[in-house]
Amino acid sequence: MIGTQPPISWIDNRIPVSCKFNDSYYSIYGGLEETNFVFLSGNNLPGRFNDGFHIAELGFGTGLNMLVSIEAFHKANIKGTLHYTSFEKYPLEKSQAERALKSFPTLNKNFLLDQWSQKTFSVISDRVIATVIIGDARKTLKEWDGKADAWFLDGFSPSKNPELWEPNLLKNVAIKTKKKGTFATYTAAGAVRRNLSDSGFLVEKVAGFGRKRHMCKGTLI
Ligand SMILES: C[S@@+](CC[C@H](N)C(=O)[O-])C[C@H]1O[C@@H](n2cnc3c(N)ncnc32)[C@H](O)[C@@H]1O
Repeated sequence: MIGTQPPISWIDNRIPVSCKFNDSYYSIYGGLEETNFVFLSGNNLPGRFNDGFHIAELGFGTGLNMLVSIEAFHKANIKGTLHYTSFEKYPLEKSQAERALKSFPTLNKNFLLDQWSQKTFSVISDRVIATVIIGDARKTLKEWDGKADAWFLDGFSPSKNPELWEPNLLKNVAIKTKKKGTFATYTAAGAVRRNLSDSGFLVEKVAGFGRKRHMCKGTLI
């Protein structure tokens, strides 16, 4: 069953916090910088972008990671198409996403907001095919017939949102990863690293973003 949208509170009137999970959607030390540091650099992007490159994400939230990735793809001037697939159980309302994304005035976001939906939807725009699959990722990922070159593992903190870090789900992440594909996540929690390693990734613990001493990243072996 698709979850109903849990209420949101706001830090400084601009950073959304899930009242259900008691955690913010992105770092209070800079959402855009966190995306670049953790998810793009952690997956060796933009350097690996090529035609048909596929990013997949657990936890779509505000769409910030998607928008920053699309911008990086365009800046890299790759001839071809970027695919971005994100899995989300509790879709924000458009007004909530709009309010959060207002903090990032340089990002081109209208194409996403114009097509925002609480149901699974795709946005095809300027060499990008982006799809948001609504439902519990533990179920929808199993049913997904795609494979990613790079994964953004962006659930709320593992202690608050354990369902998005379950061993079986991370096994399916590995199954849905292309040969030599990668993942990156802001957390370096021991259980997450172990489960990713057991799933087939060579996992590295590296310096983290903001106040986080460590994050982790890895390559499918
Ligand atoms: C930290 S936020 C993601 C932030 C997002 N990447 C962004 O750019 O704004 C975590 C997201 O995981 C989603 N989530 C939590 N449990 C889930 C589940 N079982 N399946 C799919 N999504 C889930 C939450 O609703 C939330 O949107």
